[in-house]
Amino acid sequence: MNNVKIIGTGSYAPDRIIKNIDLSKIVDTNDEWISTRTGIKERRITEGENTSFLSTKAALQAIKNADIDPLDIDLIVVGTASPDSFIPSTACLVQAEIGAENATCFDISAACTGFVYALNIGTQFIKTGQCKTALVIGAEVLSKIVDWSDRSTCVLFGDGAGAAILQKSEDNGILSIYTGSDGRNAAKLLGCSAVPVNNPFINTINEQNSLVTMSGKDIFRFGTKIVPKCIEEVLKNQDCKVQDIKYIVPHQANMRIIDSAAKRLDIDSNKFYINLDKYGNTSAASIPIALDEMNKDGLLKKGDKIILVGFGGGLTFGSALIEWMIN
Ligand code: UT7
Repeated sequence: MNNVKIIGTGSYAPDRIIKNIDLSKIVDTNDEWISTRTGIKERRITEGENTSFLSTKAALQAIKNADIDPLDIDLIVVGTASPDSFIPSTACLVQAEIGAENATCFDISAACTGFVYALNIGTQFIKTGQCKTALVIGAEVLSKIVDWSDRSTCVLFGDGAGAAILQKSEDNGILSIYTGSDGRNAAKLLGCSAVPVNNPFINTINEQNSLVTMSGKDIFRFGTKIVPKCIEEVLKNQDCKVQDIKYIVPHQANMRIIDSAAKRLDIDSNKFYINLDKYGNTSAASIPIALDEMNKDGLLKKGDKIILVGFGGGLTFGSALIEWMIN
């Protein structure tokens, strides 16, 4: 099996900042409720750019950071719950924009765990020798599927994209990955329908909209249990403990979920990198945006061990134990 490491990261969020007070003009909410219940202060919302546009911007930054030629990329995987279209995939649209003619491209649907799943796919393709250089992206334009009349969800989400380049390597930078899913009651807990079944040979047309619905309390409970479990699982059979981890990069859903996970693991909340105050919950994009910020801000040194941990609709969950290899 080949070793794999991250050689570059990138991210992009739309310019338009929507603060909590702006939302109080649309639904019955206020800054105090949103801040204290979630930690979110503002989010970025697109003014028309779609998911492939955000993905492309993040990808180009990651390519520059990794100092590679787009023609070196032989796999593009985009984790997204809000693609531009059913067909073509967001990954194919990105491929065309960045000129990665040698890549095989596809999207995966794992909601907020999308980036961890995409990272896992890229890692396995490289480990088995199927490819050498993979571009993995988490990207969302959730603002187009959010119900802007539902205060219990619309205040939570934001738009953005993050990317990482994985490459075959001498050193082992992806130490372990843990993933799982639980499809029971999934759509009731957190869902967003596609198009209804409709054809000339049936009488019933199902009425349905395509907006996000969520049972916040259930997902909250799930998050508080699954984040510590994912961290414990990814450390199993590894010669390091949670205390040896420099940073945990969690899915940025709710500060209270992160505080609860820190308590359960008996570690300081400061070990968790947080930027949800600035971006809200950007689903599959939240982890790679955070990772890129940390990379740009020089928080990560070669040899640091970090854990990425995501959870969300599906239900899906996963974590990755990474040794940082960029100098
Ligand atoms: O990325 C996918 C994963 N998603 C998540 O991780 C989300 C997990 N869930 C959560 O983060 C939290 O459950 C929420 C932030 C969504 C909600 O927080 P909560 O503490 O569970 O509040 P709640 O749903 O129990 O609502 C408490 C009250 C209710 O009013 P009453 O019934 O007590 O009078 C809600 O109607 O807060 C009300 N409420 C709001 N008030 C002002 C709900 N949304 C709002 C709002 N502004 N935006």
